[in-house]
Amino acid sequence: RKILLLNGPNLNLLGTREPQIYGSTTLSDIESAAVSQASAAGATLSFYQTNHEGKLIDRIHTARTEGIDAIVINPAAFTHQSVALRDALLGVDIPFVEVHVSNIHKREEWRAKSYFSDKAEAVICGLGVFGYKAAIEFVLEHMKEKAK
Ligand code: DQA
Repeated sequence: RKILLLNGPNLNLLGTREPQIYGSTTLSDIESAAVSQASAAGATLSFYQTNHEGKLIDRIHTARTEGIDAIVINPAAFTHQSVALRDALLGVDIPFVEVHVSNIHKREEWRAKSYFSDKAEAVICGLGVFGYKAAIEFVLEHMKEKAK
């Protein structure tokens, strides 16, 4: 089974970016923990972060040809903006879990609106970086029927 972990804009700054909101764990810590977590369960996990909407869309298109079974995505600011990214996920028809480090419902009102949540298998927010671990665990343990 193949999982793809995607992170959107500014998440390369995790660890130093607004640490009071996002904590001190870096993205590379998250990515390497995710790889180990998946391989311990006999799955393969690849990861990608970009600040560019089009590159994220291209990566999602490639996921279909690669036979990715499930995507864990933190769309970051694109959450609240990107119809194109939403359409890419729907277009490849790969089930996905939406993750946010912070609780987007506890912040500015406009952050509560997501272009992804109504199509996601699950939505995790406010668990801090533990949300990634929880999302991957969910994919590994509970999406087996959907993600062959
Ligand atoms: C975020 C929340 C978004 O509102 C914000 O734009 C981000 C990160 C989160 O992980 O909490 O960049 O997706």
